[in-house]
Amino acid sequence: MNKKAIEFYAAGLSGKRAIVTGAASGIGKAIATALAQHGVRVAIADLDVAAAERAALEIGAGSIAVSIDVTNRAAVESAFDAVSAAFGGYDILVANAGVSTMRRALDITDDEWKFVFDVNSRGVFLTNQVAARYFLGANTGVIVNTASLAAKVGAPFFAHYSASKFAVLGWTQALARELATAGIRVNAVCPGFVRTAMQKREIAWEAELRGVSSERVIADYIAQTPLGRLEEPEDVAGVVVFLCSDAARFMTGQGINVTGGVYTT
Ligand code: NAI
Repeated sequence: MNKKAIEFYAAGLSGKRAIVTGAASGIGKAIATALAQHGVRVAIADLDVAAAERAALEIGAGSIAVSIDVTNRAAVESAFDAVSAAFGGYDILVANAGVSTMRRALDITDDEWKFVFDVNSRGVFLTNQVAARYFLGANTGVIVNTASLAAKVGAPFFAHYSASKFAVLGWTQALARELATAGIRVNAVCPGFVRTAMQKREIAWEAELRGVSSERVIADYIAQTPLGRLEEPEDVAGVVVFLCSDAARFMTGQGINVTGGVYTT
């Protein structure tokens, strides 16, 4: 990309400050890295603080590691306060932390439903609310939530996960409409079959549930993907950079598919 194109694509990002949750690994780490490459100071906020510290060292560019449990309001507030103290405020929240398990719908337990909803839905609610209150006072702010392909189509063995991600899109649309007059944008990305530690766990679970090999599960993911390969975390990160930037200044309340063309609504 030439310099002018990069300036458009990541317009206004340089000098901004971001919090990315679940940024110690996978998609979140790729988002944190891409934002840092565009001049953003990034707080790597994760439950796994040792991994967050390693990621911050690797990414450099003034990034810091912050311990957070997105399911705990007090932990979210103190983590965001710590980032504010370190950076003198923040301009961007990427609520990306998420978890998954796979189970036949009729076998999902109460505990499993709660675990997945606590992180994927409640975690987005808490982090978005704490950040949005701050953004209202600061008169600026952008939020991007990591939803999923499973937020657009219910997937087998993923009833609880799909429901938790549909909730993210409902919340994103409603919050965007409430905050629009304050100039605060709220969007979501919906990744497909992304090569991360989460996917590795899912491939093993799905192979067992379907009674097929892991290779067959991977081949089926690729067969559903018109662009013909597994998605990489960086494929998602590029779109998040755009959504955080002024190039996306007239976009809010959207759930953007980044799936390589997998059929969704
Ligand atoms: P990952 O498992 O590699 O990374 C998730 C990160 O979130 C980890 O660093 C973990 O420590 C952190 N985390 C978990 N619970 C947390 C909590 N309570 N508080 C703070 N941090 C916590 O997963 P991956 O694949 O990078 O997923 C990132 C997001 O993307 C998730 O929201 C996931 O649901 C979503 N997603 C992933 C897809 C995939 O194929 N890998 C597809 C679509 C969406």
